[in-house]
Amino acid sequence: MEVLTTIAAVREFVAGARKRGQSIGLVPTMGYLHEGHLTLARTAREQNDVVIMSIFVNPTQFGPGEDLERYPRDLERDKRLAAAAGVDAIFAPSVEEMYPSGYATYVQVEGLSDVLCGASRPGHFRGVATVVSKLFNIVQPDRAYFGLKDYQQAVIIKRLVRDLNFPVEIITVPTVREQDGLAMSSRNKYLSPEERRSALSLYRALQLGTRLIVEGERNAAVVREAMTREILSYPDTRIDYVAVNDAATLEPLDAIRGRVLLAVAVWVGGTRLIDNMIVEVK
Ligand code: PAJ
Repeated sequence: MEVLTTIAAVREFVAGARKRGQSIGLVPTMGYLHEGHLTLARTAREQNDVVIMSIFVNPTQFGPGEDLERYPRDLERDKRLAAAAGVDAIFAPSVEEMYPSGYATYVQVEGLSDVLCGASRPGHFRGVATVVSKLFNIVQPDRAYFGLKDYQQAVIIKRLVRDLNFPVEIITVPTVREQDGLAMSSRNKYLSPEERRSALSLYRALQLGTRLIVEGERNAAVVREAMTREILSYPDTRIDYVAVNDAATLEPLDAIRGRVLLAVAVWVGGTRLIDNMIVEVK
């Protein structure tokens, strides 16, 4: 497996693959890899001749006071795991390589970026859309892989690709969970043993919301309230949002109908965690 740190080296690597007529799959990540990332990589491995994984803790998607500096990093471990998952090349650029001095251009997906995580993290999705646009231009992949753990991110990337005519197919992969249901996340590393127990509240609330809807509840407020109570029954939890929204527009629902997004963002101690489930109502 190759480890590339410059845009020029990626372009050369990609040109070689293209000359051989090979298809290219891109897996964008911020590293500190877990089974979620590796599932994306293995899916890309099955569907493409060449798999490139980017590992870049993107500063433009972190707000002031967020965890940019302490975000976990371990490139040596990531290299081993990526190679074992069949990745052909890692692209691990420096911040200066991606954002040289004088950098001034940003990509904004309006509307979809302002709700849910976008409301509590202003500018977050502008940073995500910008870095993903750059990665698409640098790698020019046939397919790019995103996890449904970050459901809103996946919806925004699909809109970005449609609106800016990027010639790339977006493939989404279901959320990978721990045995007890906690969604895998690099940020789970921050949790103390007590917080790890409270982190299960997100999954439990989503299960509860799903069950209420499957059993016939059609009032979104009732579902939101039940999910909120479930989360707050765990120690050291603080709610950022509990959403019962339309899965396509991401707008809040009053009456439950169609494809419904149940999404939660919860502070567990000092760590903000997110999770979601989709429920289809006939
Ligand atoms: P990161 O949080 O490292 O996630 C990289 C990719 O892995 C994303 O597509 C994310 O949805 C997916 N992923 C994370 N946890 C997952 C899980 N438990 N199951 C399935 N997929 C999971 O998301 C980002 O990085 C960044 O915003 C990025 C897109 C790389 C832009 O900087």
